[in-house]
Amino acid sequence: MGHSEQAEEELPVADISTYCLITYGCQMNDADSEAIAGDLAARGWQRVESESDADLVLVNTCVVRRSAEQRALGRIWQLAAWKKKRPAMVIGVVGCMAQKEKEGLLERLPHVDLVVGPRDLPRLGEMVREIAQARRAFAHDSRVSGFSSPLENGVSNGRRAAVDSIDRPVHFAVEPQRDHPLKARVTIMHGCNNGCSYCIVPLTRGREWSRPAGEILAEVEKLAAGTWREVLLLGQNVNSYHDGQHDFADLLRRVAAVPGILRVRYVTSHPKDLSDRLIEVVAASSAVCENFHLPAQAGSDRVLARMNRGYGREDYLRRIEQIRRAIPQAAITTDLMVGFPGETDADFEDTLDLVRRVRWDSAFTFMYSPREGTPAAQWPDDVPAAVKRQRLQRLIELQERISAEINQSLIGTRQELLVEGPSRRSDRLLMGRTRGDKVVIFEGPPECVGQIVEVRITRAAAHTLFGERTRTYA
Ligand code: SAH
Ligand code: SF4
Ligand code: F3S
Repeated sequence: MGHSEQAEEELPVADISTYCLITYGCQMNDADSEAIAGDLAARGWQRVESESDADLVLVNTCVVRRSAEQRALGRIWQLAAWKKKRPAMVIGVVGCMAQKEKEGLLERLPHVDLVVGPRDLPRLGEMVREIAQARRAFAHDSRVSGFSSPLENGVSNGRRAAVDSIDRPVHFAVEPQRDHPLKARVTIMHGCNNGCSYCIVPLTRGREWSRPAGEILAEVEKLAAGTWREVLLLGQNVNSYHDGQHDFADLLRRVAAVPGILRVRYVTSHPKDLSDRLIEVVAASSAVCENFHLPAQAGSDRVLARMNRGYGREDYLRRIEQIRRAIPQAAITTDLMVGFPGETDADFEDTLDLVRRVRWDSAFTFMYSPREGTPAAQWPDDVPAAVKRQRLQRLIELQERISAEINQSLIGTRQELLVEGPSRRSDRLLMGRTRGDKVVIFEGPPECVGQIVEVRITRAAAHTLFGERTRTYA
């Protein structure tokens, strides 16, 4: 407290200046971590890979399923050992676990200094600055008075939580530091107003708030002026985007028209809100990829109703039919869950049946996990773990077979790729993605990277396609 500017300049100890950022969870978290990195970079922090070299360690957490929560929590506990060795280390838990547990996390995890929810992340940089300053002051004082550990001697007073902005607009003052030189994530909305009975996300990310379209477009124009060629628009339910003037179809059309942006994708679409206008925009715009991630969750009407998804299996199938009528080559992917409370064998068979009828290109598959505070958590989690595992395995086997068949059917077709870089297996080979987001390995000169090329698919493995280049576009 209350040390003068003068005193600060005289401090002999090194500034807290390196940070390590560990990210779990969905693409929204990836985007949030890029925003955090941008903020910290602007404040002069240097990023390091390992916490062993870091003065500040941030863990961006996910709690969507128990397994995700356990993984993040395990990692946070590991940091306690570093903190013992280096008491001045600042540890922050941010993201969905921070919002779920709030201040209680500071009590339960004595080595954690900062707890910051997703909607409070724009405040993180300032909080870090304050606590770093307190640590420096402590280091100074300890030289004077011989204190040994900041935790024992009150520097931990700087410990605090920011978890109160859950429903408010989110504005970051500086640009994100992006992971990828070609593909950029752009968050278009925060929060979720749907009450899917199993889902904790509305409790961790708050009510929906859409970023103004003008702000989003300005960001995309900057990306286009830089190295970026593909934009991924992010929201828990992009179809309910509305900034007061523009809905999602408007926004998508405007983003796709930004010169220099070759491709636009978006996740996630809620099947109940997918509009005909959106399908029209996707069909009409050459930059928007014909790629729909449309989580079905289950195939049984009874289960869907208890999940409060707002559609039945026939509604879902009609949607798929509509998409395929307008855009026959559309790649459609989904999320599916097994073992929801009360899910019978017959309900599960309905899910398998839906898989056979829709033939998704791929699916993310999960075992239901009760989440405290959600309506479903009050119902008995009555599908035994062994049954959940068995159902999951059958589901995966069926979907893998269909994905492989779809990949095989692409052999001989011509596909447009955005070339992303050398392939992981060999520097001689390049990797690109089709408009349907499938990975294709092919031979080509390094100059292709960042460009659109056409390949003919020659071979298909389980999750990878192989091709020969037929032409390169300017
Ligand atoms: N907003 C997106 C997805 C959010 S979470 C959407 O509505 O589609 C990503 C996926 O995690 C969900 O689609 C669902 O399949 C799964 N999921 C969410 N809560 C879960 C839970 N309690 N147990 C198991 N899977 C869950
Ligand atoms: Fe969760 Fe449903 Fe919102 Fe998706 S739409 S984040 S599953 S509540
Ligand atoms: Fe996880 Fe939060 Fe995303 S709970 S899935 S990181 S919205």
